[in-house]
Amino acid sequence: MPNQQELEINKIYQSDCFDLIEKIEDESIDLIVCDGPYGITANSWDKVGKIQEYNLNLIKVFSRILKNGGGLYLFGKANCLDFIDYRPYLNLNSKIIWYQPSRLAQGRNNYTHNYDVIAYFSKGKTKAFNLDDIRVAQMVELEHRKRCEAVPSVVNGQFYKTKFNEKGKNPGDVWGDIKQLTYNSKELLNRDFLNTIQKPIKLIERIVKASSNEGDLVLDPFLGTGTTAVVCKNLKRNFIGIDNDPKMIKICEDRLKDFQLKSKQTSIFAVNYVNNKR
Ligand SMILES: C[S@@+](CC[C@H](N)C(=O)[O-])C[C@H]1O[C@@H](n2cnc3c(N)ncnc32)[C@H](O)[C@@H]1O
Repeated sequence: MPNQQELEINKIYQSDCFDLIEKIEDESIDLIVCDGPYGITANSWDKVGKIQEYNLNLIKVFSRILKNGGGLYLFGKANCLDFIDYRPYLNLNSKIIWYQPSRLAQGRNNYTHNYDVIAYFSKGKTKAFNLDDIRVAQMVELEHRKRCEAVPSVVNGQFYKTKFNEKGKNPGDVWGDIKQLTYNSKELLNRDFLNTIQKPIKLIERIVKASSNEGDLVLDPFLGTGTTAVVCKNLKRNFIGIDNDPKMIKICEDRLKDFQLKSKQTSIFAVNYVNNKR
């Protein structure tokens, strides 16, 4: 186990995350992507007792290592924060609903459960929220919006300054536009990772783009298949990834190597293309 001085960035560590986090310096992390236990699956690592207490403990531990203004995205089910007081440690900015309408399983005695929660916290006032990097398509046509903006009650009303933004709109706190991976998803590494494990690149990309800047340090304490590491490489963020399962570490390492190889091939292709054009 490395000590604090030996901890390298852009590296994947095989360790229990609580042990490794102890080696991380105070206030040194810009963003934490925490897709750990939900407390609902048959995976042995998901059996953690009361998930709310587990999450509160994580929040305490994370608040020490986050920089002021740094962000935490904590994944879970609807009840993941019930009856715990996280307020002495971090501010809860949004409880994002990751809406997944395509599930096959349908409820018989209750409404079908159709979402995960991604609780977005910050330590004090948020230092990065790069809205322009995560805008999504407007839901109304520009022409219609312009007609609405000319209506007297809008022009003179409380919200008259709201203008149609050509770059798109804020994605809001219900994310239905990013689908869970399915059997057919090209990016799925293995069928065993469906639903509870591998997260879509687009989902992690939105989080990393919104809440960090190039060169920032991102921690993923439950790295799984390495989605956060791949996204960070692609978006020029630094990362520290942790997983306690040697099988997952191997999968992450192979995935990162494959990603690096593909990016190299793309840049060689781009150089050749430019050279041939000359
Ligand atoms: C839901 S998966 C993460 C999936 C990841 N976001 C992805 O896209 O592949 C959770 C991971 O946390 C790991 N894990 C569970 N408890 C852990 C602990 N205490 N310390 C480190 N890793 C842990 C598991 O081995 C599993 O790979």
